Amino acid sequence: AASQDLAGQHWVITAGPTMEAIDPVRFISNHSSGKMGYALAQAALHRGAAVTLISGPVQIPAPAGAKLIPVKSADDMLAACATAMTHPADVFIGAAAVADFKMKQASDQKMKKQSNTDELHLTLVKNPDIIAAVAKNNWSKCVIGFAAETQNVIEYAKDKLARKGLDMIIANDVSRADIGFNQDENQVSVITKDALWTPDKATKTTLATELVSLIQQHTHSSH
Ligand code: C5P
Repeated sequence: AASQDLAGQHWVITAGPTMEAIDPVRFISNHSSGKMGYALAQAALHRGAAVTLISGPVQIPAPAGAKLIPVKSADDMLAACATAMTHPADVFIGAAAVADFKMKQASDQKMKKQSNTDELHLTLVKNPDIIAAVAKNNWSKCVIGFAAETQNVIEYAKDKLARKGLDMIIANDVSRADIGFNQDENQVSVITKDALWTPDKATKTTLATELVSLIQQHTHSSH
């Protein structure tokens, strides 16, 4: 059996996409299978942590033992985070692909096709930045984000680390077809204020185990 060295710790993980209603039948969302976040939840559970998994709509089952809080929109996800971390968590991992924008005002009724025009204009407003809120409000002792980039991966990740006030960023290059979105494998760079790790390309399950070890070591050395 794995060592239970995370026993007594509370980890909160967001995963999957958010779904922003346009009207009762349409929505704005992102590509996200939830696989990476769910694998991290599984790996933390395996080492004895209590895990709250705050998840947008995905097609995969929650790992046994996780406290699953299903949500749809970014606003819902933020509210669920606030509730889950009334007492500060030990580790927060933002693995969700949160939609950057939502409707300024979602329609109560299904929007009808207009016959007099080929254009439809939607007014969108920015969603809350969930992970930045977690960091700013000290809802967790350690705050870890993901960065999906298509270029200048490390540089953009470092910028994000500083801007959002995070302890660690796990960055991947989503322009590569063999890793990332909806793939079982991933290759990432792990970035803190003063260190950089590049674990080998691996399945998300294997990688999650390595990432949980890195997180555990990092939080041990910095708290
Ligand atoms: O800014 P960007 O979306 O690239 O940052 C990615 C990181 O921030 C991820 O950890 C993601 O879960 C988190 N995020 C968030 N709320 C948002 C946007 C991103 O928690 N509104």
